Amino acid sequence: MTTPEPALPPKLPPIVDERLPALLAAMPKAELHIHIEGSLEPEMIFQLAQRNGIALPYASVQALRSAYAFTDLQSFLDLYYQGAGVLQKEQDFYDLALSYLARVATENVVCAEIFFDPQTHTARGVAMETVVHGLARACRDAQARHGISARLILSFLRHLSEREAFETLEQALPLREHFIAVGLDSSELGHPPEKFERVFARCRELGFHIVAHAGEEGPPAYIWQALDLLHAERIDHGVQAVHDAALMQRLKAERIPLTVCPLSNQKLQVFPDLRQHNLKALLDAGLVATVNSDDPAYFGGYMNENLHQVFAATGMNAGHAWQLAANSFDASFAPAADKARWHQQLSEVFERFATR
Ligand code: ADE
Ligand code: ZN
Repeated sequence: MTTPEPALPPKLPPIVDERLPALLAAMPKAELHIHIEGSLEPEMIFQLAQRNGIALPYASVQALRSAYAFTDLQSFLDLYYQGAGVLQKEQDFYDLALSYLARVATENVVCAEIFFDPQTHTARGVAMETVVHGLARACRDAQARHGISARLILSFLRHLSEREAFETLEQALPLREHFIAVGLDSSELGHPPEKFERVFARCRELGFHIVAHAGEEGPPAYIWQALDLLHAERIDHGVQAVHDAALMQRLKAERIPLTVCPLSNQKLQVFPDLRQHNLKALLDAGLVATVNSDDPAYFGGYMNENLHQVFAATGMNAGHAWQLAANSFDASFAPAADKARWHQQLSEVFERFATR
């Protein structure tokens, strides 16, 4: 899929700077990069541990939260996989996803395309159906209750083998109606996309959309591989693309979206100072960048907090806000009619905030 040409940026109504934070919160937007296991708040880790009779190596919610001081991606992943160990029953997966969706619906997220990591759970003896049925039921209920469009993306763990990815795909295929895309996540360095070329070729034959994490910590070469070998339609993160002018040209020309996660990049020391974040540079270069939360329970903020902080740190304006929201709709895998409706809602919100 090539991301469709945007509806031409309307002549944006003038919006004064003081109204920008409220506009960021009010505008409709899509979240395209959220790991559902990364929305597991410390409080819920303790609740589920108690419900499932699991002993935790932390004395309190506070003690757990204070362990969230990360030096890089791997230092986060070690805690993230440990936290996910409390998810055992279908109801646990349901509660997790419904709680995330209910929360972001209040932030005017109208569409969420949600990663789940089945291997994190099947390796512990949790059945694939337990995971997928719980998450899919939450997506349906959230749509009915909160009007939010929610879909699932099965993500392969790249630190595991190609064979294990193929086995995971086999296990998931009977449930294929419940997910729309496949992705690639976990430890990036040392696990280039090429390792999974054949798995993704099979997923394409099966008709799934393709996305892949690339260029979070890894080099631009991993982004090229994600495009050329996996045929990724979106790049998750992709912020290292700025180091390769030819790659920037390609991403722009082919309108390949980047699902950028500012607070994640800050907490994992990709951009330790948010003022150095390159989101504005990516947008100003004409790339289809979007803002997302990645693992909000671990990184200190959901969608609107990501927008709020990155705008405050980098001095972006209402034009950037419009572009980010419009990009998020264009980059989603939602039906065209939904995208058109969200674009219309976006225009209406901008009109409402105009200072005429
Ligand atoms: N899994 C969860 N969050 C991730 C991230 N930021 N990068 C890679 N894998 C992840
Ligand atoms: Zn991610």
